[in-house]
Amino acid sequence: MQGPYRIPGALQPFIHTQTMVVRSPGRINLIGEHTDYNNGFVLPAAIDKAVYVAVDKTGGPDCRLHSVDFNETVTVPVADIKPVPGHWSTYILGVVAQLKGKGFIVPGFSLTVYGDVPLGAGLSSSAAIECATAFALNELFGFGLSRKELALLSQKAEHEYAGVQCGIMDQFASLFGKKDNVIQLDCRSLEYTYFPLELKDAVILLLDTQVKHSLASSEYNVRRGQCEAGVAMVQAKHPFVASLRDVTLAMIEECIPAEDIVYKRCRFVVEEIIRLQEGCLDLLGGDLHAFGQKMYATHDGLSREYEVSCRELDYLVTAVRARPEVTGARMMGGGFGGCTINIVKKDGVEGLVSDLTASYAVEMGKELKSYLVNIEDGTSVIKG
Ligand code: GLA
Repeated sequence: MQGPYRIPGALQPFIHTQTMVVRSPGRINLIGEHTDYNNGFVLPAAIDKAVYVAVDKTGGPDCRLHSVDFNETVTVPVADIKPVPGHWSTYILGVVAQLKGKGFIVPGFSLTVYGDVPLGAGLSSSAAIECATAFALNELFGFGLSRKELALLSQKAEHEYAGVQCGIMDQFASLFGKKDNVIQLDCRSLEYTYFPLELKDAVILLLDTQVKHSLASSEYNVRRGQCEAGVAMVQAKHPFVASLRDVTLAMIEECIPAEDIVYKRCRFVVEEIIRLQEGCLDLLGGDLHAFGQKMYATHDGLSREYEVSCRELDYLVTAVRARPEVTGARMMGGGFGGCTINIVKKDGVEGLVSDLTASYAVEMGKELKSYLVNIEDGTSVIKG
């Protein structure tokens, strides 16, 4: 199958006649943060930054993995796969382990990976590499798994090999992305609808704090635990409640003491689930102003109630708030670094980036990076 996506030049030396190449993109999320593992809704889209894997059958007993970005090769017997915490290969090995765990016989293969999703920027480079690997091995060996099964398997690889108890958003967005569309995903049922993102004269601009979210995995798991603790408190009085998706603001007031840290964590999530549903109506009705205001409200909640922001993210959101060319902005993804997502009028982008680059260097002492992103299709075979 030949799609519209090209094989990056950096991968060309690793491609032979039989090689299959799979592209799997990073993602943005317009609104609905930290709601996926609470069975709420999210509104992600796949982007024009992606991970590519080139795979071949080798017939031997090993997986031979090569990273173009790290210029490193590792060879691991398929029979003896273990997590390698902090190493790029762990995401690939995690997927192989999941396939084996499902009872598939995984023959030897070679896999070369290259990507242009900035690492640690909150654009889900890890989900992209997991989904690229899962999709490629599924095609190469004909395991017959569906996209949904591949998303769930990749999420488990992240849990078990990367140690992050993530929700389903990133893997789902990478696999199910559709050009120019956002995905409204119900993380409880995994039902989803696409709708075209019509931003009129505006574009999506990501501002990268250049703070790598190193705290993210441990604090992320702590937040997840706090949400579960909140659900348990509510369940004492409302036994039908299974997750924060079923919880109302009134139940929080009734069941969780306001001075408990769990109170503000759960309040944020319940508010965010409501905000996303209202935000979708804004987008469908073309009311970008109302949507932008909700993005700011999400940021405030993530910063003050959920406490997953950082100085640099707060700085960037505060700095754009009063600018008329910006419709809305907030931190995006797990937090503690990475990017803000901004909806900005096309003709205001250049001036905004130039002003912010200068002030960010002075105030935060770091170089600001910015990316204009387009919404693209999800995972596919680009050479097979
Ligand atoms: C990370 C996780 C996702 C999601 C976001 C926050 O990206 O991988 O599952 O929880 O954080 O919305």
